[in-house]
Amino acid sequence: MHDEIVGLLLTAEQIRARVAELGAEISRDYAGKTPILIGVLKGSLVFMADLARAITTPINVDFMSISSYGDGTNSGVVRILKDLDESITGQDVILVEDIIDTGLTLTYLLATLSARRPASLEVCGLLDKSVRRIVEVPIRYKGFDIPDEFVIGYGLDHEGRYRNLRAVIGVRDMAALRDPELVARALESVGA
Ligand code: IMP
Ligand code: MG
Repeated sequence: MHDEIVGLLLTAEQIRARVAELGAEISRDYAGKTPILIGVLKGSLVFMADLARAITTPINVDFMSISSYGDGTNSGVVRILKDLDESITGQDVILVEDIIDTGLTLTYLLATLSARRPASLEVCGLLDKSVRRIVEVPIRYKGFDIPDEFVIGYGLDHEGRYRNLRAVIGVRDMAALRDPELVARALESVGA
């Protein structure tokens, strides 16, 4: 019954192993450089913290906070709530995203960042919901392909909750999310 509410998509161990691989790949590609990891708040918070520690070359980190315009048009135009602290001109930049869905947010961010003339600009995305793509986006470092399901956990939220789950959980009954006790029991039953 609980598996009609949530399903375990990625275990903490699967995520840990893949993030280690991504970190090793980035460390090789950026040997001798000091890339800036730019996290898109708030969803990339957990991924960013683990990825940064999986990279062995020197890095800097910076964060942007954005919000979609709430007009329901899904235009991909986002409002920058918090911009970067430092200039990225001439720097090697890796944009760190939790999930790429339609690709609209990422397209907007890449345009905004490339206008600042970084030396290089690549994307590292943990989750790719590629069936939902509206605009093609280059994801240089990708964690996992996932099916078209709403997901929570490992930084991803529903109305601000569930970011602290260690696993990535697919939600099958969105209405059930309004009942935290029911969700807690369902999560426990799938071992999350
Ligand atoms: P895009 O512009 O459609 O690619 O939107 C990507 C953003 O939407 C992500 O950075 C997330 O903040 C949010 N998002 C998309 N899918 C999900 C999901 O399944 N769970 C939680 N947030 C999501
Ligand atoms: Mg996000």
